[in-house]
Amino acid sequence: MKEFFERLYGLKQPDPKLVAMREFACENGVPIMLADTENLLRTIVGIKKPKRILEIGTAIGYSGSVMLQTCPEAKLFTVEMDERMIDLATENFLNNGVFDRVTFFKGDAREIVHKMTGEFDFVFLDGPKGQYFDFLHYIKNMLVKGGVLMSDNVLFHGYVENLPSKKDRAFGMAYNMNKFLDSLFSDEAFESVVLEIGDGVSLSVKK
Ligand SMILES: C[S@@+](CC[C@H](N)C(=O)[O-])C[C@H]1O[C@@H](n2cnc3c(N)ncnc32)[C@H](O)[C@@H]1O
Repeated sequence: MKEFFERLYGLKQPDPKLVAMREFACENGVPIMLADTENLLRTIVGIKKPKRILEIGTAIGYSGSVMLQTCPEAKLFTVEMDERMIDLATENFLNNGVFDRVTFFKGDAREIVHKMTGEFDFVFLDGPKGQYFDFLHYIKNMLVKGGVLMSDNVLFHGYVENLPSKKDRAFGMAYNMNKFLDSLFSDEAFESVVLEIGDGVSLSVKK
């Protein structure tokens, strides 16, 4: 099946600038979204056509560029704490011709998200994996009705289904990710699904 999908998705004509960004990320150990997740993101924002996107976790601006290229009318508000990433993302947004639609929130999302105001019709949650649960309440308040929350890495290498031992570094993150998913699925304000795509993606629409 993996080979089948690789062949199928390999038929797409990739944007050379995005290919170069993916190569850079790979060579420099920057964890950008996986190719399958990118296909899903392109499709979802292509259907949804959001105007105001909140992203937590900019990295080098790969997912941000994908969303802005797919949605020419969208504005991106993106949170990142790593100065080097912010510099690289700035360069890449400029190079991809989307910089004028980007607003950075520079700093720790744990300090920023709960102070944020504004309305968003799409949220891409891809920042600190142990904090999704803490962010959910604030994201829910900022999402408009019909707004979509897409959260990446919700299965995190299988650790979320099969919790590692408490001594394992991944335990806290996996435990908190379970809290996030439990909260999402028990919240009547959301219709949600988890997809086994990439490292696991949850999609939620605010009713
Ligand atoms: C998985 S990467 C984002 C990848 C990007 N969304 C993409 O697919 O192109 C996660 C990013 O979140 C940033 N990050 C981690 N913890 C953070 C925090 N507490 N506040 C802000 N940014 C954070 C990291 O520096 C990293 O660049």
